[in-house]
Amino acid sequence: MRRTFRRVLVLGVAAAVAAVPACSSSSDDSGGAADGGSKIEVFSWWTGPGEEDGLNAMIADFKAKNSGIEFINAAVSGGAGSNAKAILAGRLQAGDPPDSYQRHAGLELQDDIKASKVQDITYLYEQQGWKDVFPQGLVDKLTIDGKIYSVPVNIHRSNLLYSNPKVLSEAGIGAPPKTWTEFLGQAETLKSAGRIAISIGPVWTQKHLLENVLLGELGADRYERLWDGRLSWTSSEVLAALETYKKVLSYSDISAASADWQPALDKLIDGAAAYNVMGDWADAYLSGTKKLTLKQGYDVVASPGTDGVYNFLSDTFTLPVGAKNKAAAEKWLVECGSKAGQDAFNPKKGSIPARKDADRSLYKGYLAGALTEWQKPSTRIVGSLAHGVVANNAWNAEIDTALGLFARDGDVAKFAASVQKSWEATK
Ligand code: GAL
Repeated sequence: MRRTFRRVLVLGVAAAVAAVPACSSSSDDSGGAADGGSKIEVFSWWTGPGEEDGLNAMIADFKAKNSGIEFINAAVSGGAGSNAKAILAGRLQAGDPPDSYQRHAGLELQDDIKASKVQDITYLYEQQGWKDVFPQGLVDKLTIDGKIYSVPVNIHRSNLLYSNPKVLSEAGIGAPPKTWTEFLGQAETLKSAGRIAISIGPVWTQKHLLENVLLGELGADRYERLWDGRLSWTSSEVLAALETYKKVLSYSDISAASADWQPALDKLIDGAAAYNVMGDWADAYLSGTKKLTLKQGYDVVASPGTDGVYNFLSDTFTLPVGAKNKAAAEKWLVECGSKAGQDAFNPKKGSIPARKDADRSLYKGYLAGALTEWQKPSTRIVGSLAHGVVANNAWNAEIDTALGLFARDGDVAKFAASVQKSWEATK
């Protein structure tokens, strides 16, 4: 993946493709109630602070360009789609799909393609010139048999360590840790100072932390081998990384875990906790919603052991089979893939655009660095577990169950054996 992404990024930077207006015509210009062009229902999980601002910005741009279409925002609360995905599954099962729904690029989407839940939208890519504006490595994750099935709106980074600088300095800690071993040393100091070293939330946030401890401890090469069976979860090196994860968790507030990622960050903001590992949607929450200043109110660096690595995920929107308002859904997808839509959405969402021709001046603070890092030829790109890139839905669900048990019994060998067994069963 790394080489493909890089090659395409280089080409993209060298010859940024001209913007395609979001209001360009789609394959169906007829619109109107008769063919389902008068309204659209869009399903996502962006309801919370720091998330819905981005979505609302893109909806506003869509409405300005499609004034005749009623927009139904069917977002369901719960970070990482923790509630939305189950509700969506029920609707798809019942043959009642929304007109467009959010899915992560990678194996999460590939499940839907294989199950014929989403329509081929290669024609939109051709009409809108998208094949030239998105990184090829990303488009590959939306493609089966040469047909493309969704439109990416962004690139998020999973491997970030947030901190409260005041808490660190009061504890005599000069800088965030570069390795998990260093983190554990700091955690002991923080514990003695009466602080939670690292705040945590529900199971998906524990999985988010797990992937980044594994990445930091194993390195990018071995991390990638975890997802295709080349590295056994029961090998001594993975067991050692899982022991580190267990130690990290022992310095967390898992016994009083927060209900979602925002309240887990609130503990960092109010000084109860020093650190939190979360994706860059947290930067939008801290700098946008909470109006904190980077470096003073909070800091963000690559999670321990992952400097130079971009653990990526991408939110995309689909055209479900059986969408009742197909013409309007195509217009929404055009919005999602447009430069204007992406540049409205991403600065507020805390992500960088999937398109290569973004207006860089709009990406400030943390996001300016993220854009540079993503486009740097030396950056190593790997995919997120918790956000659908590297594991299919069945395996991800098994890992959730095993992780729930692990949080209670702390049995590393049992957890590893169970994840390995479920890989065999679900591959
Ligand atoms: C991810 C999603 C992000 C953000 C996050 C927290 O799965 O890709 O856009 O919404 O969950 O809810």
